[in-house]
Amino acid sequence: MKHPAAREWVAEYDERSSAAGHARPAKARLAALRDHYAGRPVLVTGGASFIGSHLVELLAAAKAIVRVADDLSSGRLGHLDAVRSQIAFDRGDRRDPEFARGVIAGSNTVFHLAAAHGGRGYIDTHPVECLNNIALDHTVFSAAAVAGVEKVVFASSACVYPTQLQASDHDRQLLRESDAGFDEGETSPDGEYGWAKLTGELQLRAFHRQHGMSGIACRIFTSYGERENETHAVIALIAKAVARLDPYPIWGNGLQTRNFTYVHDTAMGLALAGAYLDGFATVNVGSPRHHTILELAEGIFERVGWRPDRIGYELDRPVGVRSRAADVTRSEALLGWSPIVSLQDGLERTIRWYADRPIARTEDLTRALMER
Ligand SMILES: NC(=O)c1ccc[n+]([C@@H]2O[C@H](COP(=O)([O-])OP(=O)(O)OC[C@H]3O[C@@H](n4cnc5c(N)ncnc54)[C@H](O)[C@@H]3O)[C@@H](O)[C@H]2O)c1
Repeated sequence: MKHPAAREWVAEYDERSSAAGHARPAKARLAALRDHYAGRPVLVTGGASFIGSHLVELLAAAKAIVRVADDLSSGRLGHLDAVRSQIAFDRGDRRDPEFARGVIAGSNTVFHLAAAHGGRGYIDTHPVECLNNIALDHTVFSAAAVAGVEKVVFASSACVYPTQLQASDHDRQLLRESDAGFDEGETSPDGEYGWAKLTGELQLRAFHRQHGMSGIACRIFTSYGERENETHAVIALIAKAVARLDPYPIWGNGLQTRNFTYVHDTAMGLALAGAYLDGFATVNVGSPRHHTILELAEGIFERVGWRPDRIGYELDRPVGVRSRAADVTRSEALLGWSPIVSLQDGLERTIRWYADRPIARTEDLTRALMER
């Protein structure tokens, strides 16, 4: 299925947003984004990624002058097909200081999404690669500060939040930005990936304090949608249903909760944060709704029109924290943003898109979940 152009989905976003009673920003979103981004040179590192490519489309629709830098280690150039003629693309490793300096020169705003990142299977088995993100972030932030970049918007993560706040199936909390910081309280991010993202935020704050460069850390909670691959839970669960796996494998007991944010909402949150926030700030880009993995699977069965006879619970697989969802009070107050696409609608679109793909083999799916 053809993915709608950013212009169309932004208009739809506005309609749904006003129906949901979101008053800010007052103007239509695309017009508001254009006011800020039109003619502005913007670099998106990791812009060929799942989230990055949707963000690039949105920024191009807002008439920013967009440059993408990506080593294509997990990103795909094909993700940028819709906007390829409107953007500049540089392939290279952002850990290379010379490459970082070269592509950053002349940018006003940098969206830094490049990272070694994957689903639970990847981050639990690749702690070294995850920690290497600290070096990548430092190289990008240094190059940005030297180049006189005004603002860096950093793709941080829900994994910065203390795991003990997410340890219960029953006591489902919403994670507030103040629950994770550097100065007070307990710090226990989710594994090496979470530590690296929190360190990335600390670096951003340091660059802000010492060099005056604005640093906005957007804490992204599980995003899903078109162009995501089977290394992440939502697409993996869709792929297993499309492949009619019975027993249908679920990692853990399926009662762990997550919040799921449709990727257009994620991209909109990042773009608005880049437009409206200055100084050093952290902001959640996620959903306040907890869903168990079993509920997610049920939604998928319904839309795929198939149901397995049996669920195969794989209790020895990594499942991460027991519950996770975002408090969006701050993002609503500062950006007029909270997710507007329901899980039902988002799944519908994602499954329609996925239906055009070849059916994955079981062994490929199992391997993919440990990769990125
Ligand atoms: N997908 C989610 O739900 C989620 C949740 C929290 C945070 N994030 C963050 O959002 C960002 C985008 O994630 P995503 O899920 O779209 O896909 P992703 O993790 O595949 O994106 C990473 C992108 O960075 C590129 N990249 C990696 N190392 C690089 C390097 N050294 N130099 C240049 N490019 C490099 C990859 O090719 C890819 O395009 C990542 O920083 C990720 O940590 C994603």
